[in-house]
Amino acid sequence: ETEKKIDVLMSKMTLEEKVGQMNQYNGFWDVTGPAPVGGSAEEKYENIKKGLVGSMLTVRGVKEVKAVQKIAVEQTRLGIPLIIGFDVIHGYKTLSPIPLAEAASWDLQTIEKSAEVAASEAAASGINWTFGPMMDISRDARWGRVMEGAGEDPFLGGKIAAARVKGFQGDNTFRSPLRIAATAKHFAAYGFVEAGLEYNAVEIGNNTLFNQVLPPFKSAVDAGIRSVMNSFNTINGIPATADRYLLRDVLKNKWGFSGFVVSDWASIREMISWGFSKDEKAAAKSAVEAGTDMDMESGIYFPYLIDLVKQGKVKESYIDDAVRRILRVKFELGLFDDPYRFLDEKREKETIGSTANHEAVLDMAKKSIVLLKNEKNLLPLKKSGQKILLLGSLAESKNSPLGSWRIAADNNTAVSVLEGMKAYKGNQLNFVEGPKLTTSEPTFLTEVNYNTTDRKGLEEAKNAAKNADVIVMVLGEQGFSSGEARSRTNIDLPGLQEEFLKEIFKVNPNIVLVLNNGRPLTINWASENIPAIVEAWHLGTQAGNAVSQVLYGDYNPSGKLPMTFPRNVGQIPVYYNHLNTGRPFDKDKNVFWSHYSDVEKTPLYPFGFGLSYTKFEYSDLKINKKLFSKGENIQVTFILKNTGKYDGKEVAQLYIQDEFASVARPVKELKGFQIIELKSGESKKITFNLTEKELGFYDNSGNFIVEEGAFKVMIGGNSESVISDEFSLE
Ligand code: IFM
Repeated sequence: ETEKKIDVLMSKMTLEEKVGQMNQYNGFWDVTGPAPVGGSAEEKYENIKKGLVGSMLTVRGVKEVKAVQKIAVEQTRLGIPLIIGFDVIHGYKTLSPIPLAEAASWDLQTIEKSAEVAASEAAASGINWTFGPMMDISRDARWGRVMEGAGEDPFLGGKIAAARVKGFQGDNTFRSPLRIAATAKHFAAYGFVEAGLEYNAVEIGNNTLFNQVLPPFKSAVDAGIRSVMNSFNTINGIPATADRYLLRDVLKNKWGFSGFVVSDWASIREMISWGFSKDEKAAAKSAVEAGTDMDMESGIYFPYLIDLVKQGKVKESYIDDAVRRILRVKFELGLFDDPYRFLDEKREKETIGSTANHEAVLDMAKKSIVLLKNEKNLLPLKKSGQKILLLGSLAESKNSPLGSWRIAADNNTAVSVLEGMKAYKGNQLNFVEGPKLTTSEPTFLTEVNYNTTDRKGLEEAKNAAKNADVIVMVLGEQGFSSGEARSRTNIDLPGLQEEFLKEIFKVNPNIVLVLNNGRPLTINWASENIPAIVEAWHLGTQAGNAVSQVLYGDYNPSGKLPMTFPRNVGQIPVYYNHLNTGRPFDKDKNVFWSHYSDVEKTPLYPFGFGLSYTKFEYSDLKINKKLFSKGENIQVTFILKNTGKYDGKEVAQLYIQDEFASVARPVKELKGFQIIELKSGESKKITFNLTEKELGFYDNSGNFIVEEGAFKVMIGGNSESVISDEFSLE
C-alpha cells in the first residue's frame, strides 16, 4: 500500500522536486526568528519553500522543528514533510554511557533500553531520525571514534547493533511517537582507517571485509534499520561514498535493504579532494550511481543531478530509486499521516529528563563498569570508619563524564564522582584536585590541551595522601579526547597524570584508580603497581552515582572489555581473533618465531576481560557428541560456580576455532555469551547451542560457507582463560 502511495506521489513530482528530496540542509538559521535575508541561508530558506529540500539535520526542539516543518508542509506545492535528523549517539539530554562503555555490559536488553530512552527524548524534541548506531568494528585504539562503537568483535558488534536498532525503532512500525528511524554507520570499514588517523584511507582484504566489517551491518539490516550512512574513507582506493559494489550489490540487492543511504557530512564533495572525482558534477554522478541516496552537506546533488539527468548523463531511474527510498521511510514514520506527530510540547516537557530516564541511564552506567584489578581487598570500600581521599580534576568534573558526541545535552549536567561519593556519609571524604588536567575547558570543536607543566596542587595532594586509608584517583581522558577527529598516537594517561599517580603511590600505595576514557589506554605501570583499577569510561549523566555504587559494593561489577587493551601503542592492531601465524610460539627456544623483542606480544588486558568482587569457576565442559553432521544442533554444557563471598553476575563467553579451513580461521571467535547471575556458593549447569550459523564463515568472494572438519570449543570468563573441548563436523 505504501508503495502505491509513493507511486501516486512520485507521478506528480517534477525532476527538481525529486532531486530536492535527496537534498539535506543543516540548521542554518533560527527558524523561529525572522527568515534570513541575503546570502546562502536565504537561498536555502527559499529552497525549502520551493519543495527542494527533503531533510534537515541538527534542528531540534518542538518549536524549532515545527517552524521548519510548517514551511515544507504548508508552503510547498506538494506538501512533502521533511525528515529531521540528529546525532543521537548515547542519549539526547539524559546521557547514557558512551557506546563503547555500554558494549562492556554485554547486556543486550539494557543496551536496547538505553537506545529506547535516547529515542524517546529525541522524538519528543521533534527529531525523526538518528545518525546512529555506529557499528564500525575497530582494532585500533588510536582512532578516536572507537568510543562510538561496540569494540573489536563482529559477533558482539552484530548483537549490539540489532539491540540498538530495536531500541531506537521499536517494532519498526513507528506507531509510537517516541521511536525514531536509526542509521547504520559508517558503511563501510571506517574502523580500519590507516594508523588510526581520522578521515584516512582504508586498505582491506575481502576476508576482513566480509567476516569482520560487514556482519554488524547485516545484522542491523536484518533488524529492519531504515537508513545507512556511508563513510568518509576510501576502500582500496574507492571512496565508500561511490562504492557501487558495497552500496548497490551488497547492501541494496543482496541484503534487500529497503531504506535509504545518506552520505556522511560532505563526503560526496570530498571525493574531489581524494582525487577520485574531477569536479562537483562528477562527484554527484558517481555518488548517485553507486547508491548514495541523500546528500548531507555537500550541496551538490541539488542542482547538478537535475542537469545530469536532463543531459542524459545520469539515468532518471537512479533518482527514482533514491526518492522512493526516502519517501518510503517518511511514510513509515507516519509523517504523511501527520507531519506534526512528533511535535507536542507537553510530551517534550514530560519525556526529556524524566526520573525513569535517569534511572535507566544509571542502570546502564553501572553495568558498563569493568573491574580490571582488585588486590589487597581494597574494593569494595568499607562503608564506615575509613578516611577516603579523592584525587584528580576528573573526580569533580560534571562535564567530562558526559563524553563526546552529545550535542543536545547541556554542559556540566553529569553527577561527578565527588557528588556520588558524598552520598556515602559513613566515611570521612576529602577531595583534593591535584595538578590541573587541562589548560582550558575543552569543547566539542576545540582540541583538548592537557597540562604538561603546571604541578601546582601536587604537594597538597601528597600531604593529604599521607593520612588517608584509601585513595581514589580519577584519571584518564577528558570527555572530548575521543570521538570524531580525536586520533592519538600516544594512548598513555595524558598530561601529568602518570607522574601524579606515581608521586602519590610513593606516599601511600593504597590506591584505587578509576579510569575515565573513551578508548583502551596503555596503563602498564598502573596495571603492575596500583592494587585496584576500575574502568569507568565516560558514563554519562549518572556517572558519579554509578561509580560510587560500584566502589562501595552496592553494585557488583560484571562488565567485560569489548576491546583489547594493548601494552603499548606499537602492538596496534592487537586483537583476540587473530590468525595463528606459521610460528606462533617459541618451540625451538630461539628468536625465529612471531614475537616482539621488546615487549610481550600478549595484550595488557584481553578482549572479554573483567573481574567481579566474587569469583567464578568454570568446569565440566561437555559437548553432546563428538561427531556431527551438517545441520545438526550442537549442545555445549558446562558448570559455572560462584566460589567467592559475594552474589554476582558473570558474562560467560563461548569461542570456537575452525581448526583447518580453506581460508585460515582465527585462533578464537566469539560465538555465544550469556549473563549468569549466581549467589555466593551457587553453581549452575549452563547450555549453549551451536548451529551452522556460528560454524560457518564468508569466503573471499563473500559466500557464506560451512566446512567439514575439527572445531575447538572454548568457554571462559574472557578470551584468554578458557576450558576447551573438540568436535568434528562431517
Ligand atoms: O553522523 C555524523 C557522522 O558520524 C560524522 N560526520 C557528521 C555526521 C552528522 O553529524
